Amino acid sequence: MNNIALFGYGTVGKGVRELIDRNPLFHLISVFDRKEKEKELGSLLITSIDEIINDKEVDTVVECLGGDSLSYEVIKKALKNGKNVVTSNKETVSIHLKEYLSLAEEYRVSFEFEASVGGGIPLIYPLSIQKDFDEIYEIKGILNGTSNFILTKMQDDGMNKEDAILLAQEKGFAEKDPTADLEGLDMVRKGNILASIVSKKEIDNIDIPHFGISNINPQIIKEILRLGKTIKLVTDIKFQNDGLSIVICPFAISPENPLSTIKNEYNGVMIDGEYQEPLTFIGKGAGKNPTASAILQDLIRIEKKIPYPYQKITEKIKVKPDLKGTYLLFKADTLKAVNNPTFKQLKDADFICKME
Ligand SMILES: NC(=O)c1ccc[n+]([C@@H]2O[C@H](COP(=O)([O-])OP(=O)(O)OC[C@H]3O[C@@H](n4cnc5c(N)ncnc54)[C@H](OP(=O)(O)O)[C@@H]3O)[C@@H](O)[C@H]2O)c1
Repeated sequence: MNNIALFGYGTVGKGVRELIDRNPLFHLISVFDRKEKEKELGSLLITSIDEIINDKEVDTVVECLGGDSLSYEVIKKALKNGKNVVTSNKETVSIHLKEYLSLAEEYRVSFEFEASVGGGIPLIYPLSIQKDFDEIYEIKGILNGTSNFILTKMQDDGMNKEDAILLAQEKGFAEKDPTADLEGLDMVRKGNILASIVSKKEIDNIDIPHFGISNINPQIIKEILRLGKTIKLVTDIKFQNDGLSIVICPFAISPENPLSTIKNEYNGVMIDGEYQEPLTFIGKGAGKNPTASAILQDLIRIEKKIPYPYQKITEKIKVKPDLKGTYLLFKADTLKAVNNPTFKQLKDADFICKME
């Protein structure tokens, strides 16, 4: 029996509780959240972090608070107190992965984060195994359900951006302020985590260029559809001899590419390696049930004593964005195709799209 303490009883935390309650391998013994949750949680609610962390009965901490500062405190204290940690929090993982893995090794516990990228898609674990026997060349993924939902509604149903955002908010796929999703910031964190696992290097989020879809409009969509392509916001990670490239940007994708079939709130990731030729993972990238399922995958691996022994993250690496290729640059009402643009040319445009 694995005794669990859950931090954060929101969308994901509630899903985790439901799955733990129906699984005899686990026992939820405490939940950290605000005092207002007492009605729902009764005696499970504990509002002191230290009381939970110092509880010798707790084997594993599941962190679903979000943000970085409090989560960092909780995760660090838990690992140092000999607790396994499972988290869905891409923000804190993308910033502190090196430290978390090294604390987990030092205190002989597990640190697992499958739910932090791709929601319910089992991705981090298979990628961690593949990178040990294969040479991974490229990871290309649609890793943000909000932006993909909005792009799908605009391209398939002819909606304008504002209505597509409203619909995404009504369905619970978009936050009140969707800027971080539309600008690709969420995908920066996820790209960082995937690239760190494969390269075993520390990467700063700030070094990863991102070009979002905030300025997309029906005219741009019309141009891309006229070319027989679909626009997708893509995280493109290339492991090259001359350095690691990560770029988040809209791609004009051909119908033959499996990523063109990833619609609405779904995520899709393609991993291209020397031996395992393109593998495509598809699933729901967010939401209560998919995300909680990924957390349970981690908990079960810990319980069955098959957690993945992630290698140490070593030195810091500076990302060298590969901007080679043909891009469509939209500025005011003009459209220009540019081969191998400079970073400045891309930043100066209202909207850019890489041609596949
Ligand atoms: N939702 C998804 O589909 C999804 C998918 C993948 C990953 N994730 C990640 O999973 C994490 C949790 O997401 P979520 O959607 O479940 O968030 P959420 O619904 O906002 O839940 C977070 C919970 O933690 C509580 N909390 C935060 N700060 C607190 C504090 N200082 N003291 C006490 N309680 C505090 C919140 O209470 P208040 O609301 O009162 O602040 C809330 O109940 C995030 O890192 C997110 O990025 C989410």
